[in-house]
Amino acid sequence: MLTIKRLTFSLLLLFYITTSVKGSGQAAQPAKTCTVNLDLLPLQRWNNFTSSCGFNLTKGREIINALIKSVVKPEVIELLQDVGAKLDDYLPLPYSDELRGLSSTLGLPLGDLVILNLLYDITAYDDSSSKACTSIVASDKQNKIIHGRNLDYQMQPKYLREITIQVDFQRNKKSLFMATTYVGYIGVITGCRHGAFSISGDERDKGKLWKNILTALNGGKSTFFAQRMILEQARNYEEALQMAINTPTIAPVYFILGGVKSWEGAIVVKDSGKVANVSLLGSDLKHPWYIVETNYDPWLRPPATDDRRDAAINAMNKVGKNNFSPQQLYNVLSVNLVFNKDTTYTTIMSAADPSVYHTMIRYDAPN
Ligand SMILES: *[C@@H]1O[C@H](CO)[C@@H](O)[C@H](O)[C@H]1NC(C)=O
Ligand SMILES: *[C@@H]1O[C@H](CO)[C@@H](O)[C@H](O)[C@H]1NC(C)=O
Ligand SMILES: *[C@@H]1O[C@H](CO)[C@@H](O)[C@H](O)[C@H]1NC(C)=O
Repeated sequence: MLTIKRLTFSLLLLFYITTSVKGSGQAAQPAKTCTVNLDLLPLQRWNNFTSSCGFNLTKGREIINALIKSVVKPEVIELLQDVGAKLDDYLPLPYSDELRGLSSTLGLPLGDLVILNLLYDITAYDDSSSKACTSIVASDKQNKIIHGRNLDYQMQPKYLREITIQVDFQRNKKSLFMATTYVGYIGVITGCRHGAFSISGDERDKGKLWKNILTALNGGKSTFFAQRMILEQARNYEEALQMAINTPTIAPVYFILGGVKSWEGAIVVKDSGKVANVSLLGSDLKHPWYIVETNYDPWLRPPATDDRRDAAINAMNKVGKNNFSPQQLYNVLSVNLVFNKDTTYTTIMSAADPSVYHTMIRYDAPN
């Protein structure tokens, strides 16, 4: 199984390299896959996670430090370091203990890891910075569902690329789900439970999110902890969809889901605390075989200044359902606008096919 996975991966890698688009002159690199054993106590789960993947912890520590210093205002750092000291009041198990374990593995103060885990929310308040993510769920000729996403982050994408990893979360020595994340970040923004469903989160910008940070901590319903919980608990697409709809998140967000059966796909639009709307794969009569979400409500036109949606739609239409494949989805996620200077990684996954979970770190992003 492992060997077949590796082989498939190498072949895909070859493909990626030979078809890689424009950019900085550097090549995209596959993310390392680290293992986390969920059968261990939360405090121990992250003790040894780099030994399975050879990630350089010293470098990770340096990058995380630089990242925090460069994107978070000093007064917010102080506030959150304080929160770190009283972690148990804010974060439930297992997350509080996982962060403690990580803190000693990485040799970083607990407060810094709290900041890192809230970075997405903390920095989202800056109205001037538009975030850009793209998620696509589509069915191929055989109605196999393939799900891909770009994670774009305007603040210091160069640092984030250095700490991008895949994590194989295991239970009973078997993979429970795969996730793509940043070292030190225990929530999940992109993940796949093979045989069941895949899920990705895109930012939904609704004003000054940072005011909600402390509320978000209270009860641990932070947006991307919710997504990790769905991956751990939902046994199939239907359960995942219901959880995505019903789990309140403090921050507004788009949850994009793909399943294993034809037409299992959805965009769940969330307001703070409740669901706003759900768009299902198949409901858009112009292109029923796929859904695209960037960072705008599906029923509204994206602004002309940031129309990544139509760039993706044009590229998807050019490929067509009959020629659609994981490789083609990677190409679509590499067209101009959809792929941009802020893109940190591209993940291609398919819940129906355990050989499909690949994250490429986009060192090839345009400058
Ligand atoms: C750490 O992981 C390596 C490789 O996965 C394994 O050989 C080693 O026994 C582990 N060490 C501990 C203390 O768990
Ligand atoms: C790990 O990173 C540190 C700091 O960037 C560097 O000095 C060291 O050489 C690296 N170690 C390996 C084994 O690459
Ligand atoms: C929400 O979605 C439904 C269809 O699922 C649609 O009829 C309705 O107009 C949508 N609401 C908004 C606010 O767009």
